[in-house]
Amino acid sequence: MPGCCLWGSAPPAPSGERKGAGWLELLLLLLLILSGWVLTQQPVGCPRVCECFVEEKTVKCANQNLTEVPPDLPRDVQNLFLTGNRLRDLSSGAFPSEPLLELRNLSLRGNQLEQVGAEAFARLPNLKQLDLSQSALLWVSPMAFGNASSPLEELRLSNSLYNYSVVAAIAELLQRGIFQNLKHLDLSSNGLVSLPPGIFSRLPSLQHLDLHNNSLVSLRDVSFGALHQLQRFDLGDNALKRLRNDTLAQLRGLPWLTRLDLGRNAWVCDCGIEDLARWLKESDQVEAKEALKCSEPEEKQNSSLVSLPISGLECLEPDDDQTQLQTSYVFLGIVLALIGAIFLLVLYLNRKGIKKWMYNIRDACRDHMEGYHYRYEINADPRLTHLSSNSDV
Ligand SMILES: *[C@@H]1O[C@H](CO)[C@@H](O)[C@H](O)[C@H]1NC(C)=O
Ligand SMILES: *[C@@H]1O[C@H](CO)[C@@H](O)[C@H](O)[C@H]1NC(C)=O
Ligand SMILES: *[C@@H]1O[C@H](CO)[C@@H](O)[C@H](O)[C@H]1NC(C)=O
Ligand SMILES: *[C@@H]1O[C@H](CO)[C@@H](O)[C@H](O)[C@H]1NC(C)=O
Ligand SMILES: *[C@@H]1O[C@H](CO)[C@@H](O)[C@H](O)[C@H]1NC(C)=O
Ligand SMILES: *[C@@H]1O[C@H](CO)[C@@H](O)[C@H](O)[C@H]1NC(C)=O
Ligand SMILES: *[C@@H]1O[C@H](CO)[C@@H](O)[C@H](O)[C@H]1NC(C)=O
Repeated sequence: MPGCCLWGSAPPAPSGERKGAGWLELLLLLLLILSGWVLTQQPVGCPRVCECFVEEKTVKCANQNLTEVPPDLPRDVQNLFLTGNRLRDLSSGAFPSEPLLELRNLSLRGNQLEQVGAEAFARLPNLKQLDLSQSALLWVSPMAFGNASSPLEELRLSNSLYNYSVVAAIAELLQRGIFQNLKHLDLSSNGLVSLPPGIFSRLPSLQHLDLHNNSLVSLRDVSFGALHQLQRFDLGDNALKRLRNDTLAQLRGLPWLTRLDLGRNAWVCDCGIEDLARWLKESDQVEAKEALKCSEPEEKQNSSLVSLPISGLECLEPDDDQTQLQTSYVFLGIVLALIGAIFLLVLYLNRKGIKKWMYNIRDACRDHMEGYHYRYEINADPRLTHLSSNSDV
């Protein structure tokens, strides 16, 4: 019971009263100051639909059908999760006008994000990790991060690009040279068939590039040579048929690359694969290289790429870009030849009828010509001409 009697039930000691009141005032003042301090230290409330974790400086507003970023976010938030909402457009005004100076980790995963406008992330000057996966992006402004260099270290765009138009926009954004610190870029599961040639030309810190589960057919025009820090490169689950000497030379030139995944592609094991097979045998950059399997031709299906002979393989397709065109020419030729053959056959089978028909035509012609000849002779007869001209008069 000693602590309970600080206030009201203090014994009325006339001599000590002034002293006690003084203590009371001091205590009140202290309490006031303390509560004031606590209030200013705490974040400005928590948005109604969100969960705020004060110590972790984390705010989660997941699956709330939000159509915009809550305006009343705590100023000191470091990790913000806005996953599974319905944000469609992010523009320059999307985040509070007072910059969220401490925000490092932003997830917009699983929104129906379609557009990211200029300056959309410009008010987040310390953003390090951004997750835009599971979106349906139609347009991303090359100015989305403003004009200054960005501290971004991780950008996730898995299963988020609607079609190839937005790939070009992303390439432009990445090529602006503002992502000098980007370490991890995830472009997996986007159905990409090809890549803009210079898309990776200005990412000097990139360590992990994820392109798995796309539909890449060839890497011949894409340049990786500038990714000097690359350690991990995921190209599994694509449609790659072969890698050419210039691509292999680029990969060989990346000093830190030790985890290249080429699994589950559509390798064509003809003479065009010899360079890749030779490289595989000597390189230790490729992960699980024994597991790489041919998918064509049929007799080589499922045989391991590393066990192929590195010379003397048959040449199925002269050149992957030309192949389709050539195949279609060959097909056209065969069809034309077939039509010709059928025509000749029909002619041959009907040769009697045709002969008769020809005679008929010839006779008809002859009759006609004779008639013509006769008329001509009449017209040419000067006496008759004279006669007719006279009769006119
Ligand atoms: C979001 O919208 C869906 C369908 O309109 C509804 O079923 C769901 O309850 C909503 N969720 C919240 C948290 O309001
Ligand atoms: C950001 O969030 C992701 C997902 O929860 C987590 O893995 C990562 O560690 C976070 N980063 C920081 C810096 O807190
Ligand atoms: C961006 O920066 C470049 C050069 O640093 C400058 O020429 C350009 O005008 C700037 N653009 C904007 C919109 O600020
Ligand atoms: C991508 O989709 C948008 C919207 O449907 C369309 O306007 C655009 O032409 C498409 N681009 C390509 C390359 O298909
Ligand atoms: C692969 O990508 C497609 C979209 O292109 C996606 O629907 C599918 O879920 C992805 N598969 C895996 C295993 O991630
Ligand atoms: C690829 O390079 C290897 C060695 O550098 C060479 O032997 C081979 O002929 C080259 N292949 C082609 C198709 O140029
Ligand atoms: C190759 O492996 C797949 C799956 O393991 C199988 O379905 C296919 O029949 C195999 N092909 C040959 C030629 O062995």
